[in-house]
Amino acid sequence: AQVVQAEFVKSSVRTEDCPSDGLPEFALVGRSNVGKSSLLNSLVRRKRLALTSKKPGKTQCINHFRINDSWYLVDLPGYGYASAPQELRTDWGKFTKDYFINRSTLVSVFLLIDASIPAKKIDLEYASWLGQNQVPMTLIFTKCDKRKKKKNGRKRPEENVKDFQELICGFFQTVPPWIMTSSVTNQGRDEILLHMAQLRNY
Ligand code: GTP
Ligand code: MG
Repeated sequence: AQVVQAEFVKSSVRTEDCPSDGLPEFALVGRSNVGKSSLLNSLVRRKRLALTSKKPGKTQCINHFRINDSWYLVDLPGYGYASAPQELRTDWGKFTKDYFINRSTLVSVFLLIDASIPAKKIDLEYASWLGQNQVPMTLIFTKCDKRKKKKNGRKRPEENVKDFQELICGFFQTVPPWIMTSSVTNQGRDEILLHMAQLRNY
C-alpha cells in the first residue's frame, strides 16, 4: 500500500475541470488549518508536495495528486475560515458540495478533525451534511502529537476523539471508520494507506 510515486497533476475550481481518466480518488477535507496538506505530504513522504501554512486559507482549489500512476489524493480548501469574506465562504460551500455529490470517481471522503481541541460545531455540521447526503467517509483525527499531557483542564487527544464520536453518533446508522494521526510523528500513515487500498479494491 506504500506510495512509490506521487505527482501534482492539476488545480481545478469546478468539478467538470477535474481529471477525466476515471482513476479512483480520495478527498481530504476539513476545517482550515486542520492539517489536510500536511497529511498529504506525510502520506507521500514528501515535505512540500502540497503547500502548507500557519495561516488558514492556504489551499484554494481542488488539487489532484496522482499516486503510483493508479489513484488520486485530492487536497481541498478548508471550511470555516472566519476571516474569508462571506461571498468566498458561500462559493466554497457551493463548489465543494458539488464536487462531493457529482464526482463519480470519488471513493471516499477523509474528513479531518483536529484532535488537539474540543469538537467544533462546524465540524459536526459538516459530518452531518456528508452523512445526510450519503457521501462515504472516514474520520481522520489530526495533530494527535499535541497536548499529550493534561494541563489547565484541557483534554487530551484521546478524550476529544471520544467526545466527537459520541456527538456524531446521531447522524449515522453505523459509526464511520476512524484513524488517529499526526503529520509530525507520521502516526496513522500506514493505517490510512492500507485503508485506502482496501477501499479501492471493493
Ligand atoms: P488550509 O489549506 O488553509 O485549509 O489548511 P490545511 O488543512 O491544509 O493545513 P496545513 O497542512 O497547511 O497545516 C496547518 C498548520 O498546522 C501548519 O502550521 C502545520 O505545520 C500544522 N500541522 C499540521 N498537521 C499537524 C500535526 O499533525 N501536528 C502538529 N503539531 N501540527 C500540525
Ligand atoms: Mg491546505
